[in-house]
Amino acid sequence: MSRTRILSGMRPTGPLHLGHLHGVLKNWLELQEKYECFYFIADWHALTTEYESPEKIFEFSEELFLEWLSVGLSPEKSTLFIQSAIKEHAELHLIFSMFVPVSWLERNPSYKEMLQNIQNKELNTYGFLGYPVLQAADILIYKAQKVPVGLDQVPHLELTREIARRFNYLYKVDYFPEPEPILSEVPKIPGIDGRKMSKSYGNAIFLNDPPEVVRKKIMSYVTDTQRPKKSDPGDPENRCIAFNLIKLYFEAGEREEIVKDCKKAVLGCVECKKRLADKVIFELEKIWDKRKEIEREDWRGMLYKGIETARDIARQTMEEVNIIVFRKKMF
Ligand code: TRP
Repeated sequence: MSRTRILSGMRPTGPLHLGHLHGVLKNWLELQEKYECFYFIADWHALTTEYESPEKIFEFSEELFLEWLSVGLSPEKSTLFIQSAIKEHAELHLIFSMFVPVSWLERNPSYKEMLQNIQNKELNTYGFLGYPVLQAADILIYKAQKVPVGLDQVPHLELTREIARRFNYLYKVDYFPEPEPILSEVPKIPGIDGRKMSKSYGNAIFLNDPPEVVRKKIMSYVTDTQRPKKSDPGDPENRCIAFNLIKLYFEAGEREEIVKDCKKAVLGCVECKKRLADKVIFELEKIWDKRKEIEREDWRGMLYKGIETARDIARQTMEEVNIIVFRKKMF
């Protein structure tokens, strides 16, 4: 019996932070225990917005792969690879681009939102408009059934299904499956300023921050602004911006204790953040240790192995697609 095939990708645009760890990677780790998983580094997708300064993309890609291995993604369990190594993604993207109406792309809410939000780059490009077409090729070339993504990616997945349907309809086949999103419950990870943790907000705790930096950042969380002194009773559930992190890092019992002591004004924010920093650093230490181990191993070889597995499947799909579209084997 074949296992459900899962696929997801991440753009290599910088180092990973706690938001990625809890929001994305922990979910991927769980999935790799049960399903046939394909995880890839979407370097061409990074290029759609970073085409003016691409020199960083390669560096970030290798770094991202090392970080994936450090948190526990395993080349034994999952197929881990990099998009631009599999040229067939580009070939399938090209075929799709022939029949995808421009209007489908222009009305995509994620596209409209990004055009509005990113003001310092010229994104009125052919490639950026086609971003979700490339994403559809990424997914469909492996005939993935499930795609773990955040809510922001749901419109892209809807388009992937429309593209699969249109292909099947045009060429009178039942070839591409229609993939479904896996929308896991994602904890909101606050950055040190209380906004969502994000590299671009400058409020992130990175997995590769040294321990003293992690500690300093955690100590700088503005916790409960209505509690200037320790002797003022706190209201962590409603007012403390670090509480979402506390919920993640403390077991239920410890957490209840913290809430009780905060409300009674016997536990101050400084002490509480110290405890939180200990927990976060304890978790990160495992990742840092693993990183050192991986660096001594042939991690590039692991990447090549994943690339080969992915390439075999992608080539097979393209051969079939060419036969479906052109009624013959192409060159
Ligand atoms: N667009 C995704 C993001 O920004 C990355 C991505 C590219 C992706 N191709 C994909 C995710 C295929 C899932 C499946 O997060």
